[in-house]
Amino acid sequence: MNLPDLKEAKKRTDKEVLEKKVEYNFPKIFLNKKYFLRTYGCQMNVHDSEEIRKYLEILGFTETVVLEESDLVVLNTCAIRENAHDKVFGYLGRCKHLKREKPNLLIAIGGCMSQEESVVEEIKNKHPYVDIVFGTHNISELPKLLLEKKEKQNIEVYSIEGDVYEGIKYSRDSKITAWVNIMYGCDKFCTYCIVPYTRGKERSRKLESIIAEVEELKQNGYKEVTLLGQNVNAYGSDLHKGYDFKDLLEKVALTGIERVRFVTSHPWNFTSEMIDVIAKYDNIMPYIHLPLQSGSDGILKLMGRRYTKKEYISLFRSIKEKIPNVSITTDIIVGFPNETEEDFLETLNVVDICKFDSAFTFIYSPRVGTPASLIKDNVTMEEKEERLQRLNKLVNAYSLEANQRLVGNVVPVLILGENEKDKTCVYGYTDTMKLVNIEGGKDLIGNIVPIKIKEAKSFSLDGEIVKEGVPI
Ligand code: SAH
Ligand code: SF4
Ligand code: F3S
Repeated sequence: MNLPDLKEAKKRTDKEVLEKKVEYNFPKIFLNKKYFLRTYGCQMNVHDSEEIRKYLEILGFTETVVLEESDLVVLNTCAIRENAHDKVFGYLGRCKHLKREKPNLLIAIGGCMSQEESVVEEIKNKHPYVDIVFGTHNISELPKLLLEKKEKQNIEVYSIEGDVYEGIKYSRDSKITAWVNIMYGCDKFCTYCIVPYTRGKERSRKLESIIAEVEELKQNGYKEVTLLGQNVNAYGSDLHKGYDFKDLLEKVALTGIERVRFVTSHPWNFTSEMIDVIAKYDNIMPYIHLPLQSGSDGILKLMGRRYTKKEYISLFRSIKEKIPNVSITTDIIVGFPNETEEDFLETLNVVDICKFDSAFTFIYSPRVGTPASLIKDNVTMEEKEERLQRLNKLVNAYSLEANQRLVGNVVPVLILGENEKDKTCVYGYTDTMKLVNIEGGKDLIGNIVPIKIKEAKSFSLDGEIVKEGVPI
């Protein structure tokens, strides 16, 4: 048994990052067994689940989307806010119930919650029916943990800075768009955030490995890649090889894959050369997710974000100036400890200035082990909720405005699939990452087509297929 340790997880040393190769020589002993995989959290977790799915398939499992049918449940968890925890423990209740009826059911928990001391203690003490707990650093050990399944709960979580794995195979969700990890971990240690503890040190994959992966995806017919990292702009700084994110972006663009995206950008490491590269290549999409978190300099400082309101706005403006039609989205936290009404008004002011295409907004949630969780807070939950509502109202109005500006325009849309709710429609994303629903067009799935925008809503657009400017 290896238990997580937040103090260890916080350490950063000069220890060399090792490149490890994932081996796939394990037996197919779970033939005729079914797994149920539930993913919480961000794109990294979504992509990690594609890795998990591959291991399970190689072991012989097939997937089911019906919990009750499964022989193995894997929960890939997120620890970013308390409600993420609550969701997982709520769901575990259902699994426990099912295990009473199916005593051979296996339950495995992975992801960021597994990296938290307090959570693993709780699982040990209160949820003995959970069979396996694995962490974000040893996803590739899941087959081993399943093959060696013990009578007792098996907890294998490592609080280490982490290595870089190569040769990972994925069972990808889509045949059109693909996630590509370019770096792991985070060294920013924003004072509210648990990610540097759950994901370890900031460590980049080598440029050649990333390009090889993109080339292969392109050859396999993929139209779009999204480069993934907690702070993609810091890419390469740990490698000391003289290249950085702008060089990587340029090389990825030159593979000729039709669409290149990336998340998440941190304002602190965003250089003007990076903006120039994004502007230069047509296949780098004009869409940037640029988390603001707060508009108040005092709060930004307490958050450890390393930029001021003025610096954020100036970066925002230079992106808008250099990249035609760029859309910019953001993340905002309200109710950080001791946030005053004036602080909050500064945030609203930045929203008024930037008029974001859309924004994810959150009430601050204290995370055990982070510095911010120790700050005594004098903002009541009512105040926090009221601020969130005011913020959402403003943010949604600007989202609608941004969408309305597109009505009547013809925009390139990558068609991804059938609309789940209305099978007579397909859906896709514009270059600027706006969701569009289109009547008909099933034959167009996998293609980038010009779509005329007919109607705008706050969170999506309706469009129609056009041929040389005329609807068909
Ligand atoms: N690496 C990205 C963000 C990853 S987490 C970045 O630095 O921008 C996604 C978002 O969750 C963050 O941008 C932040 O807005 C929010 N978040 C993180 N920790 C939080 C906490 N303790 N409480 C509330 N929101 C939080
Ligand atoms: Fe968390 Fe900050 Fe790292 Fe983003 S940059 S993952 S908010 S610590
Ligand atoms: Fe959640 Fe971990 Fe992502 S905490 S947001 S799944 S990095």
